[in-house]
Order: sequence, then C-alpha cells, then structure tokens
Amino acid sequence: QRLLPTSSAGGGTGLLGRHHHHMPLASQIRSKVPKLASTAEYFFKVGVEGKRFQPTVLLLMASAVKFSLSESTEGKVLSILADKLRSRQQNIAEITEMIHVASLMHDDVLDNADTRCGVRSLNLIKGNKLSVLAGDFLLSRACVALAALGNTEVASLMATTVEHLVTGETMQISTSTEQQRSMEYYLQKTYYKTSSLISNSCKAVAILAGHTAEVSVLAYEYGRNLGLAFQLIDDVLNFTGTSASLGNGSLSHIRHGIITAPMLYAMEEFPQLLEVVDRGFGNPANVEIALDYLRKSHGVERTKELAREHTDRAVKAIESLPYSDDKDVLTSRRALVDITERVITRTK
Ligand code: FPP
Ligand code: FPP
Ligand code: MG
Ligand code: MG
Repeated sequence: QRLLPTSSAGGGTGLLGRHHHHMPLASQIRSKVPKLASTAEYFFKVGVEGKRFQPTVLLLMASAVKFSLSESTEGKVLSILADKLRSRQQNIAEITEMIHVASLMHDDVLDNADTRCGVRSLNLIKGNKLSVLAGDFLLSRACVALAALGNTEVASLMATTVEHLVTGETMQISTSTEQQRSMEYYLQKTYYKTSSLISNSCKAVAILAGHTAEVSVLAYEYGRNLGLAFQLIDDVLNFTGTSASLGNGSLSHIRHGIITAPMLYAMEEFPQLLEVVDRGFGNPANVEIALDYLRKSHGVERTKELAREHTDRAVKAIESLPYSDDKDVLTSRRALVDITERVITRTK
C-alpha cells in the first residue's frame, strides 16, 4: 500500500509539488501487518474518535489566512492552486491528529489508563506492547505524510513538536522538589505537552500558504495561547469537575502527585502547603489537606485569570492578521475567536 498517490496515480506534477493529492486519514494508516493497522485505527473509528479540536482549529486557520482570489481569468488558475493548497493544509491537520493520537496511546500506557474519550483505552484492550507499537506506527505514518509534503521547514517544525511532547511528558514524570513548586517549570512543561503541537501546526498551515514570517508568527501565537489556556482550564476542571465546588473533579493530577497551576498559586498564598506537597499524595488524607488550603486560596480564580490572559492574546493574534474583506476569511476568524471563549467557559 502506498501512503499517498504518486504522479502516475493522478497526482500530476503541479506547481505545488507532486504530493498535493489528498488521501483520507483512514487510508493512510494501513499496514502490511493487519493487526498493527487495526490496532492503530482504533481511535479513528466512529464512536471512538476524540473531539478533533486540533484539526478543526487547523482547518479554520487555513481559511483565516487565505489569500483572496480575484474573479478574473487568472482567478481560475489561482482557484486550482487554492484547492491544492487546501489539501496540503488538510494533510497538516491529519498529521497533527496522528501525532496527537500516537501520543495518547503512549500516554495511556504510561498512565496505566483504562479509559480514553469515554471508551476503553487501547492498552486495556490490546495490552501495553501493542499500544506502544501502534503509537509508533502512527507516528511513522505521520512522518511519511510529512515527508511527502516536501517542505523542510514544515517537516522540521512538526518533528520539533514530537520532541516537545516527549520532553513535556518526561518533565512531568521526573521533577525535583524545586521544579515541582516552580510556576515557570509548570508553564514550560505545559507548553511542551499541550501547546506546542497546536501552535506549530497552526504555523505550518500559514507557512504552506506562503505567508511572511509575520503572519506565521501570528498563527503560532494563536495556537500557543489557545493551547496554554486549554490546559490551564483543564487543570482547574481536574479539581472542580463540572461544578464550581472544589473536590468534585477527578482529582487525578493531585493523586498522582502532579502539581498544577491552582495548587501552585495556593502554595504562594499558604507556604505551609509546601510541606504538605513534599510529603506526597500517596496518603489520601494529604490530598484532603491540600484541597482545604486550595479552597481557602485564590488558586482557582488566579488560574482562570491566567487562562483569560492567554485567550486575550490568542484573540489579539487573530485581530492582527492582515486586512481582508473575504466573507469566508472573516467567518473563520470569527470562529477562531469564538473557540477561545469556549475554551474558557467549558465545564468538561
Ligand atoms: C485536545 O485534547 C486538545 C488539546 C490537546 C489542546 C489544544 C486545544 C485546542 C485546539 C482548543 C480546544 C477547543 C475547545 C472548544 C475546548 P483531548 O485529549 O482533550 O482531545 P481528544 O478528545 O481529541 O483526544
Ligand atoms: C496527555 O496528558 C498526554 C499528552 C498530551 C502527551 C503525551 C506524550 C507522550 C506520551 C510522549 C510520546 C509522544 C509521541 C508523539 C509518541 P495527560 O495524561 O495529562 O491527560 P489525559 O490522559 O487525561 O488526556
Ligand atoms: Mg493520561
Ligand atoms: Mg499523562
């Protein structure tokens, strides 16, 4: 099975390279070993698939940075080029989703998880070994798709993002006492784990469109701040769940000894909490003590404020994009702004 059609398969050698033809995600993950493919496919099946936030954002970004076409004869040529560009940007969305799912497959092994997206996780069904291999397989397919795009800058961006995922995950599992209480360390880790993939793929979408550094940086800034806000709210919800009251969340972070922004702010307010954190959370009573301090503190509030600062910056990045009066462009920009609001107000 070929990953992407070559020129003989109808790809042609267009201005934008040979591999502009778009192949659906599902057909990109075939393997000579059916077991591997069927395992890797798991999270792409209807009913099992994730929320697909990142590809949605990327396709909107593609429209938001679109160059408007004139209605002239040249317009027709340009519109063919625009279609090709669109399918290359769609490839970025798919590559991003493959990297994301690969990282989740590995993550569930590391976390010994039993559910993912509300269904049984792959490691539970197929075991750790096959889950790791399926993640590797997806990652390798993402690499092949990236190479086929033939843009070294984009390939390098996306490869760096994989490094960031691994770095962030490693930072999380091996922290010193000093690092564990550092907001700076937490934010760096958060960028690597949650924000790097969406920010760099947003940038890749702009680069493929042939934009200047200025516009690609705005796309990057949008993704970076959206991703950071998303994780900050995630960390709040881990304590609060769907209700506003503390202790209703899954509390999975704190129980695993992972200290996030709300607790870091609480530690600033109540230095006594440092000692509690140092004792670790193997003892559930310690979780309760930490939660009591968190309740008394402004930790949750301050975390939400920080998330808001980031979504404000994300909105600013969109507003700074070059002027356009194209309806499609404006609608997409509006949607990207609306998404920042949903990130802040979501309750799950
Ligand atoms: C999906 O993860 C999201 C991220 C890893 C961070 C990036 C955030 C966004 C693109 C914005 C999200 C938008 C809204 C409206 C909340 P996940 O593991 O929770 O999702 P999955 O179900 O796709 O795996
Ligand atoms: C989810 O975090 C995990 C990540 C966003 C990244 C995990 C990265 C790796 C395991 C490195 C390997 C990377 C690749 C590309 C193979 P979480 O456990 O805090 O959240 P969740 O399980 O509740 O979604
Ligand atoms: Mg996990
Ligand atoms: Mg994890």
